[in-house]
Amino acid sequence: MYENVALVGATGAVGSIVRQLFEERDFPFQTIKFLASARSAGKTITFKGTEHTVEELRPESFDGVGLVIASTPDETSAEFAPWAVERGAVVVDESGYWRMKENVPLVVPEVNPEAIEKHAGIIASPNCSTTQMVVAMKPLHDAAKIKRVIVSTYQATSGAGVAGEKDLEEGSRAALAGEAYEYQAFSHPIAFNLIPQIGSAKHEGYTSEEMKMVWETHKILNDDSIRVCPTCVRAGVTNCHSESILVETERKLSVQEARELFDAFPGITVMDDLANGTYPMPLQSSGKDDVFIGRIREDLSCDNGLAFWCVSDNLRKGAATNAVQIAELLVGSQVTA
Ligand SMILES: NC(=O)c1ccc[n+]([C@@H]2O[C@H](COP(=O)([O-])OP(=O)(O)OC[C@H]3O[C@@H](n4cnc5c(N)ncnc54)[C@H](OP(=O)(O)O)[C@@H]3O)[C@@H](O)[C@H]2O)c1
Repeated sequence: MYENVALVGATGAVGSIVRQLFEERDFPFQTIKFLASARSAGKTITFKGTEHTVEELRPESFDGVGLVIASTPDETSAEFAPWAVERGAVVVDESGYWRMKENVPLVVPEVNPEAIEKHAGIIASPNCSTTQMVVAMKPLHDAAKIKRVIVSTYQATSGAGVAGEKDLEEGSRAALAGEAYEYQAFSHPIAFNLIPQIGSAKHEGYTSEEMKMVWETHKILNDDSIRVCPTCVRAGVTNCHSESILVETERKLSVQEARELFDAFPGITVMDDLANGTYPMPLQSSGKDDVFIGRIREDLSCDNGLAFWCVSDNLRKGAATNAVQIAELLVGSQVTA
């Protein structure tokens, strides 16, 4: 039922990684098509050694398609996903549009794979900053119940898609040359800068990106009692989001116990040796599928607090890898990274 596949947003930053993952993981399919906007229709994509023509997204694009993996802007997803579902396809969607809707499971396969069973045609993949945080939270939450989280993010420009990647590269060149540059994806210069706003003003002084971290965490962990205080910052880094995370648990966790819990959890790699300068960083994490954790230490300001540093590739585990893992759950394949 899932052997005829469509990748929507195939030309974008996330879509390009989905294509790469299909090749790397030898994802099973019989036919595949690549869909994008009219701007890209007619362009060619080389996939598994064969040239494919990008087609414009239309309702009839989904005739005969069983599985859709989509990474488009929210408004595009709102429009096309019903076209696909009406035609019998299951859509794994990476946009923000469907995530908080009832009957749409929001899934991180290492954390809540069981949620997938309740889908009614659409399964959502979370926001990139949420995904790496809930992977890190899950083993601690299961062992000692997390009551509260304070998180500050340092988010890469690739999180704003192809336009964000271009802005950092060309904005940096222009800044070094002393030339003007008109930013497309950001409302302030990102070269040599930090912007403490991602998304729009949403709720009580928090941005839409920050509220995604609150609401999506509650939905994925199925626990609205966890209090989350996020600050999301765009940083002049090309790829991989970094997060400084502090959790307060009901039962005290020692650093050693937390390290063992992280170590035993699928999809987490611990890199934690401060004396030798070993901790995760964006350059080392880029192109990898795991969530990397280091700088694990007790919080000096509260009894049951634990602080750590968490880095993950936002285009991979934060988006494409998570979506492909969901699709693998759907097709029941045992493909691994
Ligand atoms: N970047 C990340 O780290 C990340 C992480 C998690 C989730 N997401 C979400 O994933 C989605 C895609 O993000 P991205 O970073 O890949 O963005 P992107 O690089 O801007 O790519 C957007 C893709 O959507 C297509 N598209 C845009 N408008 C369309 C339309 N009207 N009809 C059909 N296709 C259309 C584009 O096609 P054209 O090439 O033809 O314009 C392109 O393929 C967004 O919802 C984003 O929030 C992104």
